[in-house]
Amino acid sequence: MFKEALISATEAGAKVMQHYFNSKELKISNKEGINNLVTEADHASEKAIIETVKEFFPGHYILSEESGEMIMDSEYKWIIDPIDGTVNYAHGIPICCVSIGLEHRGKMIMGAVYNPFLKEFYFAEKGKGAMLNGTSIQVSNVSAVMNSCLVTGFPYTYLEVPNGPLECFDRFIRRGVPVRRLGSAAMDLCWVAAGRFDGFYEHKLQAWDSAAGFLIVEEAGGRVTDYNGEPYSPYQPHILATNAKIHDELLLWINNKV
Ligand code: IPD
Ligand code: CA
Ligand code: CA
Repeated sequence: MFKEALISATEAGAKVMQHYFNSKELKISNKEGINNLVTEADHASEKAIIETVKEFFPGHYILSEESGEMIMDSEYKWIIDPIDGTVNYAHGIPICCVSIGLEHRGKMIMGAVYNPFLKEFYFAEKGKGAMLNGTSIQVSNVSAVMNSCLVTGFPYTYLEVPNGPLECFDRFIRRGVPVRRLGSAAMDLCWVAAGRFDGFYEHKLQAWDSAAGFLIVEEAGGRVTDYNGEPYSPYQPHILATNAKIHDELLLWINNKV
C-alpha cells in the first residue's frame, strides 16, 4: 500500500506539472529571498499530492513545502516537494520534478522523484535498492575528486550564509574539477544515484528537497552525510552525497583541508 500510495501521489503531482508547463498564463509570485519563486502549479501539484496521500492514509503526518506541517499522531510522515526546481519550471526548463519521501519513526523508508518531461521516475525502498523506470541503478566507480564530475546548488539568499557556497565552488573550478548547477536538488541526488554525477553538495537545503533523493542515493550504493561526515538527516542544512568512493576526499575539499 505504501508503494502504491507513493507512486500515485507522485504521478498526481507530475500530471499537474505537465498541465501548467510553458503556460503563458502561469501565475508566479515571490517567496522569502530574491527570485525564490512559487507558481500556481506548485500549489496545485501540492493539493493533488496531499489529496492522494490522504485518500490512502488519512491519519498520516504530512510535511509539505508550500502548506507546511499537518501534524498527526502517526509514526509515518510524508515529506513533499510539489515541484523541486521551480525557477527552472517557471522558465520552461525541463529540469524539475516531484519529490516525495516517506519516513517511519524518523527513518526514511521510501522515496520517489519523478521528472515527467525527461520521463524519469526514480524510486527507492530501504534495503531494496534504487530504480530508474523500473531498472536497478548504481552510483559511479570514480575514485578521485580530480576525476569527478560534481553538481551543487546555491541558496536563494546569501544573507545567512556568508559566501560559503561560492568559496567552495571557486576551490573546485580553479583546480579544474567540473561542477554543474542544475537547479533541482532532487534531480542532483538522483543523477548521483544513476552514476551521472560522482558527487553532490549543497549548503542549505530543506527536508523536502532531499528526503526522497538521499534514500535513492544510499540505495544505489552511495553515501550521504553532513559536512562533518556524520550520517545525514534531512532536518539539517548541509548535504554531501557521493558514490561513496570519493566521499572522504570530498569532505576534505568542502572543508578547505586540501
Ligand atoms: C530548490 C532547488 C535548488 C536548490 C535550492 C532549493 P525549489 O528547491 O532544489 O536546486 O539549490 O536550495 O530550494 O525551491 O525549486 O523547490
Ligand atoms: Ca525544493
Ligand atoms: Ca519546491
